[in-house]
Amino acid sequence: RTVYVNGDYLPETEARVSIFDRGFLMADGVYEVTSVLGGKLIDFPGHLARLQRSLDELSMKNPLSADDWLEVHRQLVARNDVDEGMVYLQVTRGNPGDRDFAFPPEDTPPTVVLFTQSKSGLADNPVARTGIKVISVPDIRWGRRDIKTVQLLYPSLAKMAAKKAHVDDAWFVEDGFVTEGTSNNVYIVKGGKIVTRNLSNDILHGITRAAVVRFAREAQMEVEERAFTIAEAQAADEAFFTSASAFVLPVVEVDGQAVGAGKPGPVATRLREIYLDEMR
Ligand code: PDD
Repeated sequence: RTVYVNGDYLPETEARVSIFDRGFLMADGVYEVTSVLGGKLIDFPGHLARLQRSLDELSMKNPLSADDWLEVHRQLVARNDVDEGMVYLQVTRGNPGDRDFAFPPEDTPPTVVLFTQSKSGLADNPVARTGIKVISVPDIRWGRRDIKTVQLLYPSLAKMAAKKAHVDDAWFVEDGFVTEGTSNNVYIVKGGKIVTRNLSNDILHGITRAAVVRFAREAQMEVEERAFTIAEAQAADEAFFTSASAFVLPVVEVDGQAVGAGKPGPVATRLREIYLDEMR
């Protein structure tokens, strides 16, 4: 694979980052994941806008212009011949040359790393026809989940708890209400109405969420943005989740309890179709 590191396109085996990099030592960095379908970037402007916001919230300068970000993404997709898959980008506060809790001087260059992952079956995903099962786990992440940081240890632990319970993913619960999935935003449907948690510092402002909520409203579906409980999800007609890498996928079981008929529902199925139609 050809990857991008600080201005250079290199074979992945030749890419180097300092052991003092604050991304490595402190998880002091942010990232974005943009899907690729048919060689085309999906909702790229949305991901760039959120990257800017994450950088602003952490007082980091954006190292590249919007045009340059797009060029690097396109180059990597072309050089690696990615038809279906994703582009991962990460910006960290760079290498201060030592370990120190305080930020390095402003002029310390950030570390910019991008790579691609090819993955077939993103659009024609068999999971869209079966759905996934989830368990709930306490949300003990930090209080700024709206910033897309590389601090992903707890979501990884939650994913492992799900695997151990022989299900596919975990939903985080805080103060009795579902916040989001390990790496996705979550929704329930009851009586035709779609319910998804309102935006705040408690969840990542999903780029796919923004598009799906807009498409749902354009299709005259009602969307209510508020928190819901696990019990409410278990009593719902259907449930689903969204993310840049999965688009829209159904959730058919929550904590061992079937949701609705225990199979993908019409709202999730329709929203997946609309999303893929509009974004491709
Ligand atoms: N995850 N919530 C969390 C905690 C996430 O990590 C993600 C994305 C989302 C969905 O956001 P979006 O629709 O912008 O992808 C919500 C990415 C895909 C990942 O970590 O791989």
